[in-house]
Amino acid sequence: MELKQRGPGFFAEVRGVGLADVTARDDAYAAVRAAFEEHSVLLFREQAITDALQVAFSQRFGPLEIAKAASLGEGTPFSILTNIDRATGALVPPDHKEALRARANQLWHTDSSFKIPPALASVLSARTLPPAGGETEFASMRRAWERLPEALRTRLADANAWHDYAHSRGKIAPHLASDREKAALPPVCWRMRWRNPANGRDALYVASHTYAIDGMPNDEAQALLAELIAAATAPGCTWLHRWRPGDVVMWDNRAILHRGRPWPDDQPRHMLRTTITATEADGLAEMRPGRAVRATA
Ligand code: OGA
Ligand code: MN
Repeated sequence: MELKQRGPGFFAEVRGVGLADVTARDDAYAAVRAAFEEHSVLLFREQAITDALQVAFSQRFGPLEIAKAASLGEGTPFSILTNIDRATGALVPPDHKEALRARANQLWHTDSSFKIPPALASVLSARTLPPAGGETEFASMRRAWERLPEALRTRLADANAWHDYAHSRGKIAPHLASDREKAALPPVCWRMRWRNPANGRDALYVASHTYAIDGMPNDEAQALLAELIAAATAPGCTWLHRWRPGDVVMWDNRAILHRGRPWPDDQPRHMLRTTITATEADGLAEMRPGRAVRATA
């Protein structure tokens, strides 16, 4: 296996080992797992992807999430990101729920921070790509944590933040999250620092789903969250992945923010995601909220 570094301190292309190798061989899994812990985002090119291979590869890393209520893949291990109407084969109009969901995906986020348990990793495969646009952009929350002023790092190390799926959807359209989705996904609270037990490295854990910080007045929390995400995703700190057919990208949701990029409404784009659930071995125990930080106002 060979790694080719691409991003600014994270994101590596894996060569010489593919999804089928990881599925079949323990040594290939161990090598890719180590690369995942170190580089946070891995790209596999020219994969002969099938649904079964994507599931088998993903299952190597842990239990899979079942797609959430009212999503296209509900009840299956697949999150389906598409603007193609399954019944008619036509492209959905820009005000369609799936088009609005694509816009919500264009906010900086980490997958499933609003779930219990949250996600360890996501595996995204390109199935139909638009001729232009539709890239996915990544930022390292490990790097972001390291760049924080020390006093702020100390303050955030014990802080708890609240995550809500309806909050991020509400930034795009007020009723994008339906009552059924809201009922299935009540707000959840996590620590703002996720320590990776494989290497002891910390990452800042906030995203578009984050709406409150324990013990902090709302306006102050909103300002801090916006500032943290802006600093994490500042120019020069992100990596834009331009998809090619056969690409599969896997990222560490504990340590990475990502967002989709727009593409022309009249072009199809279809992507399939499997999501691996975080377990205690992935550092989840330390993520459970602790003592609230004192309000500073
Ligand atoms: C995702 C996601 C962005 C994209 O699959 O979780 O946010 O570019 N995708 O499709
Ligand atoms: Mn996502």
